[in-house]
Amino acid sequence: MFVLPELPYGYDALAPVLSETTMRTHHDKHHAKYVSTTNELLDKTGAKPGSMEELVRAAKAAGDSKLYNNAGQAWNHAFFWSCMAAGQTRPSGPLTDALMDAFGDLASAKARFVADGVAHFGSGWVWLIAKDGKARIATTHDGMTALELDGAPLLVCDLWEHAYYLDHKNDREGFLKAWWDRAINWDFVSRQFAGERWAYPAPTSTAA
Ligand code: FE2
Repeated sequence: MFVLPELPYGYDALAPVLSETTMRTHHDKHHAKYVSTTNELLDKTGAKPGSMEELVRAAKAAGDSKLYNNAGQAWNHAFFWSCMAAGQTRPSGPLTDALMDAFGDLASAKARFVADGVAHFGSGWVWLIAKDGKARIATTHDGMTALELDGAPLLVCDLWEHAYYLDHKNDREGFLKAWWDRAINWDFVSRQFAGERWAYPAPTSTAA
């Protein structure tokens, strides 16, 4: 079975961008449900995937949309938590160079990320990804992960209303701007750009 990864910081660490109430609901209710549903679906089939990444790809290939969406959301949220940190950090090193190459300057990178996130219709995710050292922004709908994008995921923000509505109401743009300025763990993003590949915690051996 797959575990629900704990937040790498306190529930109140990202306030006021994301309040303790939002984080408790988002992690303990929404994310937890995606993980438990994934485990329940695996229990029914007896499948024992070696990793969440393997499961997402297999569910996609099999056309199992319920399993795909739940496993994808489990993966997306765990990656999302890792992309954030208490205390402000800034892009550095080769990542900064890649952002400058792609967008001109860091302010333009933020503006593009926010604009693409705002323009994304409905629920989904806005990503910063990289391929061959070049950075670009992409969005995915609903539970689609970055595992299907042509590039390695560096950073993601949740565009589902449950991520920001309690704190920012319908102001997705305001949320994304504040999130970019104050909630991103750029050290994590830099490590992903340098070649570290974040992975969902391996399944425990007790079930599924
Ligand atoms: Fe979410």
